Parts: sequence; C-alpha cells; structure tokens
Amino acid sequence: MTGEVQTRAAAAVDQARQWDRLMRMAALGAIPGDGVNRACLTELDRESRRLLIGWAQAAGLTVSVDRLANLFLRHEGTEPGLPPVLTGSHMDSQPNGGRFDGIWGVIAGLEAVQALRGAGITTRRPIEVVAWTNEEGGRFAPGCMGSMAYAGFKPADTWDAVADGEGLTFGAELAKQLSLESDIPRRGLGVVDGPAPFAYVEAHIEQGPLLESAGLDIGAVEGIQGSRWFLVEVVGKSDHAGTAPLRLRKDAVQDMLRAIAALNELTHDPDDVLRFTVGRIEVSPNSSNSVAERARFTIDLRHPDKDVLLAKGDAIERTVQAAMTTCAATVTERFHALPSRFDPLVPGLVEQAARGLGLGVRRMASGAFHDAQFLAQVCPSGMIFVPCRGGVSHHPSEYSSPEQLGAGTRVLAAVLAELANR
Ligand code: GLV
Ligand code: MN
Ligand code: MN
Ligand code: MN
Repeated sequence: MTGEVQTRAAAAVDQARQWDRLMRMAALGAIPGDGVNRACLTELDRESRRLLIGWAQAAGLTVSVDRLANLFLRHEGTEPGLPPVLTGSHMDSQPNGGRFDGIWGVIAGLEAVQALRGAGITTRRPIEVVAWTNEEGGRFAPGCMGSMAYAGFKPADTWDAVADGEGLTFGAELAKQLSLESDIPRRGLGVVDGPAPFAYVEAHIEQGPLLESAGLDIGAVEGIQGSRWFLVEVVGKSDHAGTAPLRLRKDAVQDMLRAIAALNELTHDPDDVLRFTVGRIEVSPNSSNSVAERARFTIDLRHPDKDVLLAKGDAIERTVQAAMTTCAATVTERFHALPSRFDPLVPGLVEQAARGLGLGVRRMASGAFHDAQFLAQVCPSGMIFVPCRGGVSHHPSEYSSPEQLGAGTRVLAAVLAELANR
C-alpha cells in the first residue's frame, strides 16, 4: 500500500506544467510531422539545457555539471551527506526523433521534485535530477557516453577523438560546451570521483507496443536486453561505371551487399527475438557513375540472452570476411552492453506505487537501451515506462498523452519520496 507521503507527492504533480515544458522543449529542433532533431552538444542542445537550468533555478534547485557535461539539478536533503537518489534521462534526440524519448525522463524528474517541494515533503537524502550527455549516439557513436563514464564503465576521455559527419570531435565539442557553461559549478565524475548514488530511477516512454495493447498505464522495468554496435568498412577501388569491366572491379558496394546478406542469414531468428539492424550506410565517392571505393555500414545487434548476444556478435567479423570477393573489410566494435537485470528494489517500488495509485501495471523488460543499464552496475536501478501510441519511437509521430505522462510522473514522485527517506 502506498503511504500518505507518497500519495501526497503524487497528488502534487502538475500534469499541465509538465506538458507545457515538454512542448517548449519540442520547439527546440522541431522538424515536420511533430518531430525533433536535437543532437547532443549542438546549439539546440545548449538551448534546451539553458531552458532546463532556468526552470530548475526558479524552483530552488542547485545546478552543477561534471566533465562529461552531465547536468545535475539538486534538491537538498535534510541529511546532505547521504548518497542521493538519482533520477533523469537524456535531452538529445535521434535525427528523425520524437518529442518524448529521453526528454520526458528529465522533465518528469524536475516535475516530481517540484511536486515534493510544493507539497512540503522533506527528504533525508538529496534527490538529483540528471540529464545525461549523448544517450542517443546519433551524432557521436556510441550512445550512453555520459552514463558510461559516470558509472566508471569507460574512462572519461574514451571518446575524445570520435568525429561527427562534419569532422568535429566529441572532445572538442565537449570542451566548448563546458567553457560555455563555466559559470555552472563543476562537480566530480560519478563513481570515479565519489560514492555511488543510493538508487537510480529513469522514466521513459516504452518505445514498444506492449503497454498500449494491454491497456496498462505503467511498466515496472526489470531489465534491459543487451546490445552490441559494430562499424564495418569495406575498401575496394573506384572506377569508371561505363568502361571498367565487372571482372576487373573491386566494387565496395557489391561486397557490402554480400556481407549484409550473409549477416541476415547469420542473425535470422524464427522467434524474432534477436534484433539485427543496418541503420546507416555511407558510400564513397557516392557518385552514380563511379564504382564505389569505400562502403561503411553500422550494425546494431540486440538480444536478452548474453550467450546468444556474445555468440552472434562474435561471428560477425568472420561472416563479413567470408563474404568479401574482391575487397578488404574491417570490423570494429563500438559499443557493448550486456543484458542487465535490475536489483529488485526499484522495480518493486514502482509496481507498488502504481498499484497504490490505482494504475494498471506490469513487470517488463526494455528492448531499447538506456542510461539505466550503466547505472545498474553501481546502484539499485529501475525504470518507469508509460505507453506510447502504436509503440512508435525514434520517429516524429512518437506520442504519449499528457495523462499518460502525468501518471508516470506521479509514480516517479511516489517512488522518489519513498527512496529518498530510506
Ligand atoms: C536507444 O535509443 C536505443 O537505441 O535503444
Ligand atoms: Mn531514450
Ligand atoms: Mn532513443
Ligand atoms: Mn535510447
């Protein structure tokens, strides 16, 4: 049963304020069809951070930033020395993204904390709302850089040389961001420089169809399937499309197509659990009357079972090599997150809070990866999912209603009120 404090915290959530903030954020990087394109460390990302910082300061929260530009909004506890409860998500979007993926988790965190404060609820532990840097990995691959560094999974300078499509590096763009925000107090980097948080809770739209089709309000997420990202480069030789005989060519596009066909066979799963995606292809010189000298493509591979993920991922390199006829290929792994199962604490509290508030809830796994996957390595973690229309995400038509998002934030407020008083 949800206690009196949790009920009061949930009741103080202002659904209209949350929706208004989401729509103001959605205007930053708006694209046709109600979508958003707000890549990390761009001017639009900066604007969204400034907007968030303004709201947080007006609400009486203290703002700080770490060396990965992860942004923290702190509500002080009555025992400030205790490890905080952390909640949040990311503000960057996919290039053809929607208005809710990521940003809702940050806005929900702020709204939940404001609800507690508005209801006069004090907490023993501080609560920190975090906006993680580069969760999507659309501009700088891979995703989840901010949370990986925070959790000590990778050193902070791991991605300094990663370049975007224009040749700008993550390291340089990060340095620019930090200098533009030099007025914001700097803090240490997560568990590298300090103690682990007490717990982490991330609110996110489901990005899949399960809650909507079951008519449920809340998903209490118990774990996240594993993902591996690879970059394949095929190198041949450029030639004249009209004069070079096929038998003398080293056509990078043709060998890339053979490799992708072979990978489709490797990853074919009659049960449709294994997910294999080639999401990005670049060809050079990219001219209709030249044979391609280079072809690059990305692979995103996912499975909930570690053994399958490892076995299939490890077979990618030899599958690609075996498919080459005239070209040379290199395969580089760029991201590797094993399937994670959350400590039962947070999923249990999410389920309990949802039931206490009269909401329909189920336990579930996440098909998308999230920053929570890395936080789960250092503290009890969990996620709150809400339904989204048609299960659609990573697309402009992504939609969850003000009521659906409001329900998720009420659950978050109740869970935070509970965790921060433990
Ligand atoms: C995160 O955006 C993912 O691709 O799962
Ligand atoms: Mn997301
Ligand atoms: Mn996403
Ligand atoms: Mn994501």
